[in-house]
Amino acid sequence: MEVIIQKDAETAALLVARLIAKELHLKPHLVLGLATGRTMERAYRWLVKMHKECELDFSLCRTFNLDEYIGLAPANEHSYRHYMNEHLFNKVNIDLRNTQLPNGMAKDLDVECAHYEHLIADCGGIDVQLLGIGVAGHIGFNEPLSALRSRTRPKALTPITLTQNAPMFGGDMRKVPKRAITMGVGTILEAKRLLVLVTGPEKAEIVAKAVEGPITSMVSATALQLHPSCTVVVDEPAASKLEGQEYYRWVFSHEPEWREYREPLIT
Ligand code: GLP
Repeated sequence: MEVIIQKDAETAALLVARLIAKELHLKPHLVLGLATGRTMERAYRWLVKMHKECELDFSLCRTFNLDEYIGLAPANEHSYRHYMNEHLFNKVNIDLRNTQLPNGMAKDLDVECAHYEHLIADCGGIDVQLLGIGVAGHIGFNEPLSALRSRTRPKALTPITLTQNAPMFGGDMRKVPKRAITMGVGTILEAKRLLVLVTGPEKAEIVAKAVEGPITSMVSATALQLHPSCTVVVDEPAASKLEGQEYYRWVFSHEPEWREYREPLIT
């Protein structure tokens, strides 16, 4: 795992967008795992800008989102399908037929989850999975006690998550669906590369646990430590409780693989 500390949320999101853009240039048929949440909006804005101004090409790219609320139709403004269309898909040259999210309206949720796993496998697996971390320590919607080998399945959301996501439902946590379909921790760990973006002071504690704490199913983000190719990009506020900050900064400023990313494109 590498931890890259950037000065603010915008610079951190730009770095993640640049890393994705590089992967897309190297492999136009990239299978890209995507995440939702407020943190990702910045990263998607940068990707849209790169598409418009630098011709970043999504035409051959296929995507799989981590999760979707159960009971929300794709057209519902609170669904993650709607979020993805609004923030990314409708603004770049991706073929919507190449974009997948779990179907939260499926009659048989277990069949839908197995189908989602098959779709991922049929594409040869996910090349790059973008991830955020929730305040409950989840990746996707893998709430506390999610098995570290779990696969795509329905999951009940914790009160912490319902509260965290309430602002997207007019501030009323009673309106947030209580369940979601999510890729499992095991599914996520099978992606070839993980790119994690976490920003803001309210995430400082959970980032420290995820990166430096003991691996536990109580905090599914600690499973990131098991992945051989995981890059965590954080801003200063989210990094503030990391014990190894000095070392992480040294690695980023000295290791050859990060050379092209050291010069910030914005100041
Ligand atoms: C949401 C999503 C996660 C996301 C996380 C952080 O509930 N299911 O995939 O990473 O919570 O959200 P935010 O960026 O709004 O803090």
